[in-house]
Amino acid sequence: MIEIRALQEGDDRSQLRSGDPDLDRFFHKFAGQNQFKHHLGVTYVAIDGGRPLGFATVAPGHVEIEKLPAAARKKLPRYPLPVLRLARLAVDQEARGQGLGRQLLRFIFQLALRMADDYGCVGVVVDAKPDAVDFYRQYGFISVDVVEGQSDARPAPIPMFLAIRPIRAAFGAQDD
Ligand SMILES: CC(C)(COP(=O)(O)OP(=O)(O)OC[C@H]1O[C@@H](n2cnc3c(N)ncnc32)[C@H](O)[C@@H]1OP(=O)(O)O)[C@@H](O)C(=O)NCCC(=O)NCCS
Repeated sequence: MIEIRALQEGDDRSQLRSGDPDLDRFFHKFAGQNQFKHHLGVTYVAIDGGRPLGFATVAPGHVEIEKLPAAARKKLPRYPLPVLRLARLAVDQEARGQGLGRQLLRFIFQLALRMADDYGCVGVVVDAKPDAVDFYRQYGFISVDVVEGQSDARPAPIPMFLAIRPIRAAFGAQDD
């Protein structure tokens, strides 16, 4: 039975292998201190029998309105807009394709709705790795910026945005 909850200090983070060395390094070395010591963000883990099989790290952020797609800009003021930033998302290679990424993202959407209701939040922003763009697109995220200098050797992340309205619509019954 998979449980999604905030990282705890006693969790063993050393076993997760996502296939991405940067994401693994972050999870093994920095997720704990960033959360418990510096309060830079919070990592949520998908736990199975005590073992973290995936994680998502979030922090509040803001976007400039010019960065948003035209449809999302309508009627919004021109000062920086509050968003929930999905800073990192990864699933252990052995646990891929079983819906964990989807479950973690769903959990993050619920956090965004809570943020919208409690503090304000116009949507979720993610800097998607090129290989993950289609993963996010299927949930409605759209690219919000032209990335320059991209190359196959060092692919640049692609900023993507999903507005709070469709998120609320997807969870409508339980959140309205
Ligand atoms: C992207 C990632 C988090 C997906 O996790 P996962 O647990 O394998 O995904 P799920 O099993 O929940 O997949 C949900 C759906 O997305 C699809 N999907 C998964 N990865 C995908 C990808 N990279 N591109 C397009 N679609 C993808 C699945 O086929 C599934 O579709 P379905 O509902 O039609 O069956 C995982 O592959 C990963 O950790 N990748 C490496 C790190 C990474 O790229 N993270 C994102 C950084 S921004």
